Amino acid sequence: NSLYLQGLGDVLPSLPTDLTKLEGLAEGVLSRRAFGYVAGAAGSEATARANRAAFDRWRIVPRMLRDVAERDLSVEVLGTAMPAPILLAPIGVQSLLHPDGERAAARAAAAEGLTMVLSTAASQPMEEVAEAGGDGAPRWYQLYWPKDRDLAVSFLERARDAGCTALVVTLDTFTLAWRPRDLDAGFLPFLRGIGVANYFSDPVFQKAVGGPVTDANREAALLHWAAGFGDPSLTWDDLIFLRDHWEGPIALKGIQHPDDARQAVDAGMDGVIVSNHGGRQVDGAVASLDALPGVAKAVGDQAAVLFDSGVRTGADIAKALALGADAVLVGRPYAYGLALGGQEGVRHVLRCLQAELELTLALAGLTRPGRLSPEILSCAPTSR
Ligand code: FNR
Repeated sequence: NSLYLQGLGDVLPSLPTDLTKLEGLAEGVLSRRAFGYVAGAAGSEATARANRAAFDRWRIVPRMLRDVAERDLSVEVLGTAMPAPILLAPIGVQSLLHPDGERAAARAAAAEGLTMVLSTAASQPMEEVAEAGGDGAPRWYQLYWPKDRDLAVSFLERARDAGCTALVVTLDTFTLAWRPRDLDAGFLPFLRGIGVANYFSDPVFQKAVGGPVTDANREAALLHWAAGFGDPSLTWDDLIFLRDHWEGPIALKGIQHPDDARQAVDAGMDGVIVSNHGGRQVDGAVASLDALPGVAKAVGDQAAVLFDSGVRTGADIAKALALGADAVLVGRPYAYGLALGGQEGVRHVLRCLQAELELTLALAGLTRPGRLSPEILSCAPTSR
């Protein structure tokens, strides 16, 4: 594969190919506040640590002599063809990490043909991010469901017009959680110069704050945004509203309990995303990987099952797929890639993950992601 060939030609990769090293490097290039916002998690960060530890408890048991000459990582999820079962998780305020922000991530994703999930909390309007990715690039839209229903409808219409083919609705963040790194630094990036571009550029939002957002009304606009960001009163009955305003597939992000997964299926949802927001919401919550098998079993083949929180390597992806995911979303690794190298940094992360997944599958005796099952895993011995 090309990363190896590059190395043979003495062209060394600009960033480490062990992506677990990116966090430490990113710390060196970001301000303390920016790094804390990305790397940080809720409370004592026990759930963020548990997310990683859960991967380590599973080990792959490779099988031999299985003709793995022809390999194909491609999958189709929620109607989107993907060259590998990897998506860019929705991450807000990317201008905090690199001046090119979301546009750089969109270009990197497009270069790899991978799907980017555009965040409602982005630092650049979704139309601009979509344009950077280009016409043929696959993209989905992530909704933070605001209190103002007219604003929600406007977001959905804009996302559709910007070419987003599937909707991801994040349920676990109707309010930001207790995040000590940000609290101790008195830091909320949205309030610090970055702003909330999708809101400020929205006609419904502008109408509510009495016109376009300028320096004069910026403070009031941010207060309006904060007050209406999430709706804690939502229930399962409200999902009908999404169906009425979004024609394509819908996936619910933040599902951890099998009963919630069943309710999602009963409500006609097309997918669930097993996620604890990278440990950023409920400290002490179950590791996302530990929640995955139960959710996958509850859903069966009635809906797509996606997974995130803690994915750092190709082997991690193989484990999540073996435990029932159809594809994974990757968060912090590409955020660090963006911080370290802009568009090329993100691309490096995406290339490494694909290459490592392909090698891991082949060396484990498999040719396609769909062949992964729990039989390929064993529990790691508890004594080390
Ligand atoms: C996020 N995440 C997130 N999720 C979402 O639905 N909308 C968003 O705007 C954001 N913003 C965001 C910012 C930052 C800095 C981080 C680290 C995360 C959560 C994200 O989509 C995903 O669930 C986690 O990042 C997955 O965990 P890992 O891969 O970071 O461990």
